[in-house]
Amino acid sequence: MTTQNTTGNPTRQGLGTGASRWQRSHNLGELNASHAGKEVILMGWVHRRRDHGQLIFIDLRDRHGLTQVVVDPAHAPMEILQHASGIRNEFVLAIKGVVNKRPEGMVNKHLGTGSIEVLVNDLRILNECDVLPFPVADEAESSETLRLKYRYLDLRRPRLRDNILKRIKFVKAMRKSLEAHGFLDIETPFLYKSTPEGAREFLVPSRIHPSHFYALPQSPQLFKQVLMVSGFDRYYQVVKCFRDEDLRADRQPEFTQVDCEMSFVDEEAILKTFESVIRSAVSDFFDGKEIPSFPRMSYDEAMESYGVDKPDTRFELKLHDLSSVVATSGFKVFAEAISTGGIVNAIVVPGRAEEFSRKDIDELTEFVRQYGAKGLAWAKKQNGSGVASWQSPVAKFLSDETVNAIDSKLSLKAGDLVLFGAGSYDQTKASLGALRNNLGARLKLYDPTQLNFLWVLGFPLLEKDPDNNRWIAKHHPFTSPRPEDIPLLATDPARVKASAYDLVLNGNEVAGGSVRIHDPLVQKQVFSTVGLSDAEAEAKFGFLLEALKFGAPPHGGIAFGLDRLTMILTGCDAIRDVIVFPKTQKGTCLMTGAPGEVSLDQLRDLHIRVHRLE
Ligand code: AMO
Ligand code: AMP
Repeated sequence: MTTQNTTGNPTRQGLGTGASRWQRSHNLGELNASHAGKEVILMGWVHRRRDHGQLIFIDLRDRHGLTQVVVDPAHAPMEILQHASGIRNEFVLAIKGVVNKRPEGMVNKHLGTGSIEVLVNDLRILNECDVLPFPVADEAESSETLRLKYRYLDLRRPRLRDNILKRIKFVKAMRKSLEAHGFLDIETPFLYKSTPEGAREFLVPSRIHPSHFYALPQSPQLFKQVLMVSGFDRYYQVVKCFRDEDLRADRQPEFTQVDCEMSFVDEEAILKTFESVIRSAVSDFFDGKEIPSFPRMSYDEAMESYGVDKPDTRFELKLHDLSSVVATSGFKVFAEAISTGGIVNAIVVPGRAEEFSRKDIDELTEFVRQYGAKGLAWAKKQNGSGVASWQSPVAKFLSDETVNAIDSKLSLKAGDLVLFGAGSYDQTKASLGALRNNLGARLKLYDPTQLNFLWVLGFPLLEKDPDNNRWIAKHHPFTSPRPEDIPLLATDPARVKASAYDLVLNGNEVAGGSVRIHDPLVQKQVFSTVGLSDAEAEAKFGFLLEALKFGAPPHGGIAFGLDRLTMILTGCDAIRDVIVFPKTQKGTCLMTGAPGEVSLDQLRDLHIRVHRLE
């Protein structure tokens, strides 16, 4: 059908019927010199156009690529040229034309289709496009608010489109690898029962059962364990998980896991299997790139040397413990940290002291304050020894002996910068751990395309609940203690390590899992250590506990954070850049307007009355 536009010209046309029906013959990324002379029908969006009056060049775009089409009166009737002169960016066109090999000097090497152009002999405008809120053709930064509101336009842009295509490629590679390792793709329900798994849950009211709620699963954890009891010995699922938690750059309220579980295995077998699964998927993703085997690090070593449980091993700058060296020093900040049970740690930046001005160090001090640090003492090592060799605001509080002891402990050389943290263990590790990552990025200590995978193993099974000082499970109470640590449950729970592991990639936690308890006696012991009575355990995890009584095989698993993995593999900084329709930091969808209000009738059906709390 032909319609009239505001200027009265006939513009929009259909694909036609009968003899005039047009069908796309090729996509816009596939034509090359071998197609020269061929008659083609192409369809897509106007990416760019250059109008020379008697000659119009149009870059036509679809998700496959760009093809240059030329409207030249030498090949097309004059009315086609007139018709084409009304074309604007992002109009949807269909063209019929002949593939022409470009002359030698005119080849565009940056374009897959750069060796050809298509000489138009007929053209239809399939649709027009309103004034754009931001340009699609150039990736000029526009506000993220606008980009999220018009997400479909942002998704047309090559950068985001390529991220999504790469995500699809990675999911495909993961599925292929998991299937090759014998894993079965099994779906589990989204309408689930509220279980205390950690994060706050999203609830869904039941219409049929007044004042009862489903919960959206934080992960399919308990279902996959039950599937092991059922005998589906290798399960996987690419699955949405829902967590109502505070959002950050690497967190979304709904995100995707590649969730996995397997039977008849111990920790070593699980690590070997999933290392093989992910190495072959990542290798496939990078078209056969060699992915070396993953180093392993204990949780204790990670915390001690990197200050975090997800070390970025692409660079050094380790944390060094100076507690014993400075315990009796004259600097009150250091001495007090130690006498109150805390620690003093340092990071050395070798040879780059002169690159740090007072202002830079002030910035770093502000940075560590966000992590609870009270300050950031520093020293620039110069030639010589003793206090005189330190340019530092704290040198005056220290003796020659202490300075020499620190020099020797840290092997300091002239030109080194030392940054000190003093305080409680948790706060000092957290602030220096974050500072280390900050310095790594600031000093460009690594190649951003490098991939450093790392297993972190041996997490503590239990931690103290800060509210009541009682033991609680660090993961969930079905996580198995390491077999050799089981006797410690009764005598020294703090030292019990879990058969739990995280996979870290470039300082990001990209997967986590554990061996589960399948022995009722061990389960009882763990419950009693965390002070959970049989009745409480039954109320919280009833169906799983029951299932475990009916012949549960030894089992364990892992869940990969697909969004985070894809974010890193595509070199993006924000998880939103690899999700088609992400939520904002405030959990809203700017395109659809979710979450939104609902009608009183809907609420009544659900037996809900909204009472806003003051
Ligand atoms: P966990 O809670 O560690 O384990 O989650 C597994 C992985 O999922 C990713 N992830 C997230 N990604 C984006 N946004 C979020 N809000 C978010 N939360 C977690 C992380 C994390 O490593 N059931 C267990 C797995 C198991 O024990 O098998 C679980 O869910 O990359
Ligand atoms: P002050 O005595 O507070 O002036 O601090 C002297 C120096 O020690 C300053 O450079 C502070 O940033 C630093 N400082 C203060 N508290 C701490 C701390 N807890 N850890 C490390 N450095 C600190």
